[in-house]
Amino acid sequence: MISSKMLDALNDQINAELWSAFLYLSMSADFENKGFEGFAHWFRVQYKEETEHALKFLDYINDRSGTVRLHAIKEVPQTWATPLDAFEEALAHELKVTSLIHNLMDIAVLEKDYATQNLLRWYVDEQVEEEKNAQAIIDKLKRVGDGGGLVYIDKELKKR
Ligand code: FEO
Repeated sequence: MISSKMLDALNDQINAELWSAFLYLSMSADFENKGFEGFAHWFRVQYKEETEHALKFLDYINDRSGTVRLHAIKEVPQTWATPLDAFEEALAHELKVTSLIHNLMDIAVLEKDYATQNLLRWYVDEQVEEEKNAQAIIDKLKRVGDGGGLVYIDKELKKR
């Protein structure tokens, strides 16, 4: 049986994952609007991943006979001046999500909730990937600046 403290924290995380999904969907729409098809595609894929992250928590709560509580999603930003701005915001956001996941793990460890610790290990690894991916694109964007290299990266990200 899952504790009410753990359950509340997991339900909050569903909201955080769905907010992430909205953030990336908003970035995708903005770059689609600006003609950057590759950046738009990359963020659309990221939106889908975040939805999966939320569903994984939702399924787990149901598996443990807990009650899923879906809260309203707060509004997300709508526009970014450059792809670099968006990826820097995405990385900052992922660092925040990493700390949220670590906080969840702290609760699970404190409560000796081994099943939730197992679930969270997947998210700990996933956050390593999330941070790495955003950082790699930031590094490339910084290298190429605003010129033709930006078009090349846009094309490359379409392959994701
Ligand atoms: Fe669900 Fe990007 O962390």
